[in-house]
Amino acid sequence: MCQVGQAGRFGLPLESNGMELLVTGGAGFIGANYVRRTLETQPGTEIMVLDKLTYAGNATNLAGVDAELVVGDICDAGLVQGLVDKADAVVHFAAESHNDNSLDNPRPFVDTNVMGTFTLLEAVRRTGKRFHHVSTDEVFGDLALDDPNRFTETTPYNPSSPYSATKAASDHLVRAWVRSFGLRATISNCSNNYGPYQHIEKFIPRQITNILDGRTPKLYGTGLQVRDWIHVDDHNDAINLILERGRLGETYIIGADNDHVNNLQVIRLICTLMGLDENAFEHVADRPGHDMRYAMNSTKLRQELGWEPRFTSADDGMRRGLAETIEWYRDNEAWWRPLKDAVEAKCAERGQ
Ligand code: NAD
Ligand code: DAU
Repeated sequence: MCQVGQAGRFGLPLESNGMELLVTGGAGFIGANYVRRTLETQPGTEIMVLDKLTYAGNATNLAGVDAELVVGDICDAGLVQGLVDKADAVVHFAAESHNDNSLDNPRPFVDTNVMGTFTLLEAVRRTGKRFHHVSTDEVFGDLALDDPNRFTETTPYNPSSPYSATKAASDHLVRAWVRSFGLRATISNCSNNYGPYQHIEKFIPRQITNILDGRTPKLYGTGLQVRDWIHVDDHNDAINLILERGRLGETYIIGADNDHVNNLQVIRLICTLMGLDENAFEHVADRPGHDMRYAMNSTKLRQELGWEPRFTSADDGMRRGLAETIEWYRDNEAWWRPLKDAVEAKCAERGQ
């Protein structure tokens, strides 16, 4: 069995070892962690990052990292083709990723998530390169709180927001390119990530930086919504395993079995870990169309490829991962401070 995350190496050689990867969106949260983790666990891998550096991208996320950063748009067919030609494989993270923004202005989500993915697929089709598409659990819609089921690879798509609808569209494009053109592609659908370098518009870093900034943490609505939280390194280790040994044309669900934890519990845990009373937060306006519960069944990934998360629910991994994440934001105020006022002003406009 493959030793994911142990001694910083996989037990078997990665397909990408010594190969050149094109990583789209590699200056964003998960992409930058992916680049860092891959260079640590798979030394010898050459990485080119293609990133537009939108509000969500930050070149300093790659500071000190031995990777080439090309600033550009995945919708730019000429640029994309030139980079795909040079790469052995493409790992596609670039997206507009925040649900609340997609409710304010859906257009960039259609452009990047749909047209950008289409542009990449066409470039990959012309060259026959290996492609991995990073997607989300949100394509499946949501589950009721009392629904015992979890999402699997065969759950029908039922997206709720403009963000999740555009991600669903991009998944469908990948599947169609596999079937129609024999594209050598895999897809992963992962649940909510947390960890360092996450933009502070997102739930966990927003609350951490609220507390560090002397502001009151903000919980949307009742807070009874459930997200199946996973540490970003566990997600990225799974992606590399799929890239290495995943069956072409297949989809893999990635999740760390945290589907019993609701937002109220998470915000209370953050308050407690940061030395506040567990109820030192306020309820704010709910998100329109707010998905209730996501829950992931990652049996296929575990049984077929031997993946196991390091931050599991069984050993209180979420508490451990959150404590590390809090320390990262405490130590990196210069990274988030310039963003804080603008993020909070935008939330305030929405009553959040
Ligand atoms: P992010 O918003 O932090 O980063 C997105 C990156 O893509 C940024 O660096 C941005 O500059 C870049 N980008 C945006 N539009 C671009 C364009 N047109 N051309 C080139 N680059 C562009 O997002 P994230 O949270 O790191 O998510 C990365 C991927 O993982 C997304 O595809 C998302 O759907 C998926 N995902 C995210 C989560 C999560 O919890 N954050 C969970 C599952 C899947
Ligand atoms: O499930 C995977 C998805 O997780 C990814 O596909 C998305 O790219 C990523 O943004 C994330 O989507 P969510 O909408 O679930 O994440 P967000 O961090 O925005 O919110 C998490 C939960 O916390 C959600 O139920 C809304 C709630 N929330 C959010 C914020 C920003 C709050 O209660 N307060 C807040 O301030």
